[in-house]
Amino acid sequence: MAIAKTFSLIILLLYLLAISFPTNSQEFYSTKLSKRETRREQLTHLHFYFHDVLYGRHPTAVVVAQAATTASYPFKFGETLIIDDRLTVGPNLSSRVVGRAQGMYASADMGDAGLLMVFNFFFTEGRFNGSTLTVVGRNAVLSAVREMPIVGGSGVFRFARGYAQTRTHLLDLKKGYAVEEYHAYVFHY
Ligand SMILES: *[C@@H]1O[C@H](CO)[C@@H](O)[C@H](O)[C@H]1NC(C)=O
Ligand SMILES: *[C@@H]1O[C@H](CO)[C@@H](O)[C@H](O)[C@H]1NC(C)=O
Repeated sequence: MAIAKTFSLIILLLYLLAISFPTNSQEFYSTKLSKRETRREQLTHLHFYFHDVLYGRHPTAVVVAQAATTASYPFKFGETLIIDDRLTVGPNLSSRVVGRAQGMYASADMGDAGLLMVFNFFFTEGRFNGSTLTVVGRNAVLSAVREMPIVGGSGVFRFARGYAQTRTHLLDLKKGYAVEEYHAYVFHY
């Protein structure tokens, strides 16, 4: 009995020591979460306009690569652009800027209009200032509504997941200017 009691006491002591000195352990992880990370998940809806400016004096989307055969495909298969496109509250380019869409898109469909989009929404306003959302998905640009997954985020959007839907608000092929209306729905903490 006494031995069993002593033994349990030692186990308990070892356990308490392990808890109070986690830095002494050789482990590289901890399953204990901070208050912030165990807070209730919330759903945020974002609405803004995305300005893709290809030509003119201040383009924000530039072609950086293509294949020798790109021109022979109906939708420029292989053409790759890097973007730093403005995000605004209203459809007008001169309306209030709330962030940027920074990353790339590439024509990744040999027979149809299908872009591979890989970019971050980088917000520069208010509550979301400095936070990002990462979008990776297929953008069938000729469809009325396109949907792309939001696969993660940073800052306010840590642990983010969700989706973004976009519709073309304005398309001027001559000027190389497109305005896309975005609705994004994200779960985050
Ligand atoms: C955008 O705003 C500018 C300046 O306020 C204005 O001159 C222009 O007509 C607007 N464009 C559109 C498409 O509403
Ligand atoms: C956003 O954050 C940056 C960096 O912390 C700061 O310089 C800027 O003033 C902030 N902008 C707004 C609108 O809060």
